[in-house]
Amino acid sequence: MQEKYIDETKQGEAFAIAEKPGNGKKLFLESYGCQMNFSDSEIVASILNEQGYNTTLKVEEADLILLNTCSIREKAEQTVRMRLAQFKHLKKEKPNMTVGVLGCMAERLKTKFLDEEQLVDLVVGPDAYRDLPNLLKETDDGRDAINVILSKEETYADINPVRLGGNGVTAFVTITRGCDNMCTFCVVPFTRGRERSRDPHSIIEECQSLWDNGYKEITLLGQNVDSYLWYGGGPKKDFAKASEMQKLTAINFAQLLDMVAVAVPKMRIRFSTSNPHEMTEQVFRMIAKHDNICNYVHLPVQSGSDRILQLMNRQHTRQEYLDLIKKGKEIVPDISFSQDMIIGFCTETEEDHQLTMSLMREVEYDYGYMFSYSTRPGTPAHKKLEDDIPADVKQRRLAEVIALQGELSRKRMQGYVGRVHEILIEGTSKKNQNQWKGRNSQNAVCVFDKLEGQKLGDIVSVYVHGNTQGTLLGETIL
Ligand code: SAH
Ligand code: F3S
Repeated sequence: MQEKYIDETKQGEAFAIAEKPGNGKKLFLESYGCQMNFSDSEIVASILNEQGYNTTLKVEEADLILLNTCSIREKAEQTVRMRLAQFKHLKKEKPNMTVGVLGCMAERLKTKFLDEEQLVDLVVGPDAYRDLPNLLKETDDGRDAINVILSKEETYADINPVRLGGNGVTAFVTITRGCDNMCTFCVVPFTRGRERSRDPHSIIEECQSLWDNGYKEITLLGQNVDSYLWYGGGPKKDFAKASEMQKLTAINFAQLLDMVAVAVPKMRIRFSTSNPHEMTEQVFRMIAKHDNICNYVHLPVQSGSDRILQLMNRQHTRQEYLDLIKKGKEIVPDISFSQDMIIGFCTETEEDHQLTMSLMREVEYDYGYMFSYSTRPGTPAHKKLEDDIPADVKQRRLAEVIALQGELSRKRMQGYVGRVHEILIEGTSKKNQNQWKGRNSQNAVCVFDKLEGQKLGDIVSVYVHGNTQGTLLGETIL
């Protein structure tokens, strides 16, 4: 059963679901970090809703505070610690209140969290959410509770997520969990465990149920969606041990895309995140084959230098990446790409930095997410390499990369001007109540005046007559 949302999705923001008779206890649930965490919070809300918890947006009202946390960079962890500090006075006033930490920080710090943060009563890793009802019994009895066991099978396939904080139009559908890639800078393989794929039938069911409930766009989610492989369950790494029958009937990501596109033919379909070394030509062919699969790929590269890519264990070269982009542009002429970049990784020289900039110019990304390298305890880079780029150099290079992406984005947006785009209405523009905001197939945001008869979730033809760095300005074609 789906509950109604009442708030907009925002980083670090709490969400609430509709009141229903329950156990009289109120849950305040706040999410940080990647889309996967927001999606996981919907699973947590579903599990606790079954237990009779109603959610609240007012932290003072809460009997249970849960923070779904991120460890990807040190700053993300600092934000959570600062947030926890804000709860101290509440706990004094309400000693029975339970404070729990979920997600990647819980997994990374384990019992250390209970020792370091006196305030925290409950620590639950990303694969242990089904255990929450038991763990809460422990905390109700006044004991600290922890479960950070990682699983090789858990995909929460049978749990119908409670849609939190969305717009009722776009939703995430998780297809894989964990990551086996071991990029040397990345904490995810340690906090989210081995990669496993979700049963395609449960994925299709969830997509159909979203369509039946009025949703118009889904994003298939995974740390590395291209390595999706269903052969009856179990971790990807064990595929070699599968039976001949399982191998013959296995379903890869391109095939899954095909199945989803056919099952919900009017639903817009996006996916994130792709990994260059696993993405295949077949995926681009599926985008070209189905009108309802959007012409947009988020394809993180992290660096334009082969030497750095190798130190990062990215398993592809600059040229292989550029060849993949070229293939994508050939097969889907209207395709757009976005990137993730890590700036100032260990030993990065000025020459490496210039290679990153030249790669960006070559690809002409629509958008980018650029970060200063933050060394993460326990990762291979932390163990074997020195975080030797001074903070001011990282900052300067980051500023240069961000400025370049700004130029490229503006240029790409200009390329959309003078054409008609199909825009899915996702909400009201923040700047102007009389305008809608939505996105085209390439994921570019477009704002345009509201007209009588238009509503949230409609796909409308919009003529784009102008742009800013990141937004298209248009008007409805009648
Ligand atoms: N495959 C994943 C990547 C997860 S991490 C996905 O689905 O997006 C998201 C991004 O954070 C990475 O692409 C990388 O650019 C950045 N990142 C990861 N570890 C980092 C670190 N130690 N320092 C800075 N940025 C990092
Ligand atoms: Fe991290 Fe690399 Fe996986 S960035 S999530 S280890 S693909």
